[in-house]
Amino acid sequence: MNDKIYQKMLLRRRFCKRVFLMVTAFGLFFYASVLLFGDLKTPRIMHLTELETCPACYGISVCPELYSNQIILESSHRWMGIFNAKNIYYGFTKSNRRVVLKKLSHDWELKEFDSKICKEWHLKHNCKPIHLLNASNMNEKIIELVQYNLSFPDMEPRKGLVLCPYAYSIYDLVQPVLNNKKSNYRSDMINLWTMLSINPEPVILQIIPKSHGWPVPAYGGVCGRIEVVAYEGESLSSLLHVAWHRKLKYAKKILDAAMDFTFKHDRFRFYFMDWSLDNIVANEKDEITFIDLEDVIVLDKHISPGKDLPDWYRRYTRDIIGSGFTFSVENMCIHHLSDHNLWAACYLLAGDDSPLLYPIPKEVHTLRPHFHRLLEECLHGDDRFRTVTKLQHVITDMLMDEKIVGFGVIR
Ligand SMILES: Nc1ncnc2c1ncn2[C@@H]1O[C@H](COP(=O)(O)OP(=O)(O)O)[C@@H](O)[C@H]1O
Ligand SMILES: [Mg+2]
Repeated sequence: MNDKIYQKMLLRRRFCKRVFLMVTAFGLFFYASVLLFGDLKTPRIMHLTELETCPACYGISVCPELYSNQIILESSHRWMGIFNAKNIYYGFTKSNRRVVLKKLSHDWELKEFDSKICKEWHLKHNCKPIHLLNASNMNEKIIELVQYNLSFPDMEPRKGLVLCPYAYSIYDLVQPVLNNKKSNYRSDMINLWTMLSINPEPVILQIIPKSHGWPVPAYGGVCGRIEVVAYEGESLSSLLHVAWHRKLKYAKKILDAAMDFTFKHDRFRFYFMDWSLDNIVANEKDEITFIDLEDVIVLDKHISPGKDLPDWYRRYTRDIIGSGFTFSVENMCIHHLSDHNLWAACYLLAGDDSPLLYPIPKEVHTLRPHFHRLLEECLHGDDRFRTVTKLQHVITDMLMDEKIVGFGVIR
């Protein structure tokens, strides 16, 4: 009798075990196939955009395209969400243009930002983002923020926009951004405040747009906490194997960009703080694009300097001795012109840290021995404006030399 009961129990237990294993296996299979092949585009995009954080978001200009599947996430990257610490996603438009979707911050940074909003705006501790629309002191909040970023510019990592020497230039700076909008002024201002706090990239991309010849990504728009930009190519750090004359082409364009960011805008200078071969990409036509515009110092060159800026009309030449990528934001901000971009560009080409142009092939060195000297002068000399102009001419000349660019391709 006991034996029978025992056998029954054993059978039931086995049965339960099998059912449990089958359900688990089915669940895992279902989850994996949905993740890899399933049509989760819309919900995933919705999840990525975090529209519920608006108006404390970047805006909504590209939401219609995202929500009507005009922009589709690339399937091979769909599963990357789980591991994608950098929060970069790739996609395609209906016209087959590759795009990059950027959250512009790590998830933990966004969480931290969200947790401080109510206090920041003097609202109840459990306030909802929508309550920000009732705030009355928006203009002061924006000035206050720029002022804050300006008072602690050397804090690392820098967050948000640094505009100097005076915070009040902000309204002239963001004019193109506000002009692009036809919608609600209040939410536009909160969007602006959010971008200036988290990552000013979408603002910068509208002030110096690719359509006006700036070497930055074409701006697609923003939706919630996502920015959409055109895919502009591969990082130079992954192109170090290419023929040397192509590196020389990149070098010329890097120097041109350094000059443009310093001189081309009528009113502002843009000093890039994150010069690295990871942050510059090149396409198949060897055109280069600066893709990471988070850490930029914007200088208004048309201010009337007060007593606090006795050296404003003097040039600031980088005077920090020692190797590595170091600079003084404070000094850049109290002089009307600084050679920071030029020094940084030369450092990328010829500095201590896997320089783009080194080693210079022997044949090239024999043909143009002064080229190396000019690069050294750019790193260590005291008139980089003159040296970079010379370098631009010398490189243009080298790029027309058959012996350097011609058939015997030098690597
Ligand atoms: N417009 C773009 N075109 C091509 N690749 C891009 C673009 N934007 C970002 N990427 C890729 O994503 C990486 C990270 O983007 P980035 O803006 O530099 O963010 P992070 O602040 O994490 O460095 C880049 O190194 C580059 O490989
Ligand atoms: Mg980067």
